Amino acid sequence: MKPKLFITRRLPGRAIEKLKEYYEVEVWPHYPPPPRSVLREKIRKVDALATLVTDKIDCSLISNAPKLRIIAQYAVGYDNIDVECATKYGIYVTNTPGVLTETVADHTWALILAISRRIVESDEYVRRGEWYHSSTGWHPMMMVGYDVYGKTLGIVGLGRIGVAVAKRAKGFSMKILYYSRKRKPKLEKELRAKYVPLETLLKEADIVSIHVPLTDETYHMIGEKELRLMKKTAFLINTARGAVVNTKALIKALKEKWIAGAALDVHEQEPLPPDHPLYKFKNVILTPHTGSASWEARTKMAEIVAKNLIAFAEGKIPPTLVNKEVVNVRKPGFKQ
Ligand code: NAP
Ligand code: GLV
Repeated sequence: MKPKLFITRRLPGRAIEKLKEYYEVEVWPHYPPPPRSVLREKIRKVDALATLVTDKIDCSLISNAPKLRIIAQYAVGYDNIDVECATKYGIYVTNTPGVLTETVADHTWALILAISRRIVESDEYVRRGEWYHSSTGWHPMMMVGYDVYGKTLGIVGLGRIGVAVAKRAKGFSMKILYYSRKRKPKLEKELRAKYVPLETLLKEADIVSIHVPLTDETYHMIGEKELRLMKKTAFLINTARGAVVNTKALIKALKEKWIAGAALDVHEQEPLPPDHPLYKFKNVILTPHTGSASWEARTKMAEIVAKNLIAFAEGKIPPTLVNKEVVNVRKPGFKQ
């Protein structure tokens, strides 16, 4: 009998077909995520689970999953999973690093350019007929934004995506500052990036771009104190996780014009509710957590999920295992 696998959403490409050779696969067929009651019921019965960022897999679910041996996350971030608890129960947790790095960096740059040069606002201005009704073909102060070329980019979290964002800045002759847990001398040379404390980065950067994972340490890392340090002409870009930025503080910063604007792909509450205060700001761009949303990246992410699950089924250590110490609790495979 094949082990049972529940996948919480349809995935692009042929990954699910491949997985059927190794698993008895059930896929949640709906567009919205499975409700918690469904997750609870499924997790109690299955041997393997493939999850998305929208599935909260906490210890109360994990501790009621007697057969569960592996959780394969379809994302690089895994803050929705209680990894410590999974490790305690000998459950392997995997993610999809690397294959979406360039895609998220592209999205970050789309936001950097769009917010600096008011692209979304300009598009709306033209479409709504406001340009036409203004009777102004061209005006020296119409939709004026800020240059990106030659400015200072501040990267918070110089990991895979942070590096990919910094590499793109070379073409814009930008000065690069970064803050991370550890200094990276090799990268400093390669990127011509300078390590600075977070405070200095916030004070000096024209674009502050967040690329840290969401952890206990990074929760609300950017709050009122940090936003007050930023230049009045600077933009905040967040394609990491919503809760790294304190949204209430950001709204205050925007209202009181401590910063020039923000472009956010990730939000403390997802999906963002219709009455959210952020909608009121013209100098804010909002995307629906689509940083990795290219067919290429999303297909490769599914392939990595499949590779991890197949390796595990074959009794091997999954290639992108998150909780490496779990091998001391249980060996890989379903015979353990
Ligand atoms: P990564 O390679 O692990 O990079 C994260 C970097 O953050 C690491 O270099 C790490 O620093 C740094 N960091 C961690 N904790 C820190 C702290 N407390 N203070 C300062 N720096 C800290 O991960 P990645 O692949 O670049 O992905 C980064 C995050 O992007 C993911 O965790 C995910 O939340 C988010 N993401 C979002 C999307 C989207 O759709 N918007 C898509 C993919 C990923 P050190 O190297 O110094 O230890
Ligand atoms: C998406 O948010 C990811 O972490 O891959």
